Amino acid sequence: MLRSHTCGQLRSQDIDTEVTLCGWVESTRDHGGAVFIDLRDRYGITQVVVGPECGQAAVDAAGRLSNESVIKVVGTVAARLEGKHNDKLATGDIELRTKDLELLNSCQQAPFVPSQQDLPGEDLRLKHRYLDLRRTKMLDTMVLRSRIIKLMRDYFADRDFIDVETPILGRSTPEGARDYLVPSRVHPGEFYALPQSPQLYKQILMVAGFDRYVQVAKCFRDEDLRADRQPEFTQLDLEMSFVDMDDVIGMIDGLVSVVAKDVLGIDAPAKLPRMTWDEAMTKYGTDAPDLRFGMEIVDISDIAANVEFRVFRGAVDAGGKVRGMNAKGAASKYSRRQIDELTEYVKQDFGAKGLAWFRVEDDGSLWSPISKNLEAEQLQAIGQRLEAEPGDLLLFLADSWEVTCRGLAGLRKRLGAELKLYDPKAMSFSWVIEFPMFEHDAEEDRWVAMHHPFTAPRTADLPMLKEDPAACRAIAYDLIINGSEAGGGTIRIHDSGIQQQVFDLLGISPELAKERFGFLLDALRLGAPPHGGIALGIDRWVMLFANLDSIRDCIAFPKTQKASDLMTEAPSEVDKKQLEELYLRTTPPASKQQA
Ligand code: AMO
Ligand code: AMP
Repeated sequence: MLRSHTCGQLRSQDIDTEVTLCGWVESTRDHGGAVFIDLRDRYGITQVVVGPECGQAAVDAAGRLSNESVIKVVGTVAARLEGKHNDKLATGDIELRTKDLELLNSCQQAPFVPSQQDLPGEDLRLKHRYLDLRRTKMLDTMVLRSRIIKLMRDYFADRDFIDVETPILGRSTPEGARDYLVPSRVHPGEFYALPQSPQLYKQILMVAGFDRYVQVAKCFRDEDLRADRQPEFTQLDLEMSFVDMDDVIGMIDGLVSVVAKDVLGIDAPAKLPRMTWDEAMTKYGTDAPDLRFGMEIVDISDIAANVEFRVFRGAVDAGGKVRGMNAKGAASKYSRRQIDELTEYVKQDFGAKGLAWFRVEDDGSLWSPISKNLEAEQLQAIGQRLEAEPGDLLLFLADSWEVTCRGLAGLRKRLGAELKLYDPKAMSFSWVIEFPMFEHDAEEDRWVAMHHPFTAPRTADLPMLKEDPAACRAIAYDLIINGSEAGGGTIRIHDSGIQQQVFDLLGISPELAKERFGFLLDALRLGAPPHGGIALGIDRWVMLFANLDSIRDCIAFPKTQKASDLMTEAPSEVDKKQLEELYLRTTPPASKQQA
């Protein structure tokens, strides 16, 4: 190697040794006659001194080095002068006295440098990702990511899982998102789909008798992006044969303990708490509740049904609900203007019609612009139901059940953060189980699978497939970390008859099923064992364990919210010839044709 040591390696015991370091110039300080360089590589920073013994020309050259130049320094390790030790650096007791300095490559006019105090805009960081990845924070996150993946791989390898790669060019798997398609040159007019997950392949591996499969799998979904969603993301995907839900959940409980201990030094419960989907929606309005704090939703529909106030009674009369929450002690923390902002928030983001609120006065009575519409006993009953105490702020939505769920879950999340109801370093791990099998798509008036169409219904609910699909519960489980869905899985259908019944409900005719999933239906008839599995969102695990807000900070080369790679400028147009070879012609939207 060009170097003998790294920039994070040298200590007092190395004093008087001659070494060679290579790295980037983090900063230079000219002390008249001597130049001090902070030399950085992945492992740390070492102070390099170019002093008079190198000759004036070398000192001058060192002073002219631009930040982020790449240099090689040969020198002798020396103790730092009395009072010049730096406790913040692992190498802070020593410095390198230069004998020879070679410029390996200069850095010209960097658009930003990793050491600068204020972070540049994200677009610039993504465009020059190599500069951004030089920042300690980014490097640490990538190291953490690598560590978590290694822990996962080791954990499953120790438990007899076989790592199998599944195709990227395949057939569309319906996970609910839009597919990324790849045109085939050999089969004009035909397309591969990039996998939304390896779902069907892993089921096939169980039919093949592999018993335990695992893979760090790239998945592709062309969907609307958010802070915790990428079009291309990574799953820790696994499948097991002859298991029930407890076996899969238990396997992941064990993994959570290992990762929590190794990464954060904390002891996660050996058996993580479980909550049914019904309970989660009732108490938190979401299937991914943040359990780091309380503030549960309370239903007052029975009280609201009998009030004069038309907003409340009207909602109940229309088959909806009136539900709310008690933001303890928050009355004085939200001004009228801020409550108006919360009202706009639930209207804009969740389609609520308004937000009703009450302040709890010193005498325990409820005050609000709408209190005059309610009788004293009714106000008292509401206060009691929400265990109101002086200083509390009570917030209510009167709407369809779905809107109250969405709106209150959003409010709870926002208020939890604004009121600092939890320690941002705390970690909460839990399971949500017993999801509905199906959701009703009102727009298209049809049933859609809540997880995916290969999910098994609870045995007791099998008759519901015919009688009441809405009431049918799946053997499905989501792992929730701090209010984020960090993983999801199910026990699968291993009976081709039940599989066809579910397809029927989803409007997939036997012919269509045969065309799209014939191989699966065949496999299910040819000795499929009972099986189930789960996939963990690795990018989200890193985000949560590193306590970051954006999934883009957990991926070396992420896409923007608009699914672009700003560094390589993908996606891009291609040569006409390439399109011709693929028998493709494009018709861009009018807006693009003009531009
Ligand atoms: P699911 O669709 O729930 O299940 O995905 C599993 C986990 O992957 C993560 N995830 C994402 N992360 C980043 N960006 C995205 N766009 C994205 N979409 C999902 C989430 C999620 O919990 N085949 C099934 C698994 C199974 O049934 O075994 C599946 O893919 O953390
Ligand atoms: P309005 O009579 O529509 O002006 O509403 C009176 C008050 O009730 C206002 O403070 C609204 O924000 C609130 N409000 C209106 N609709 C709803 C609703 N669906 N749920 C909760 N509060 C509402």
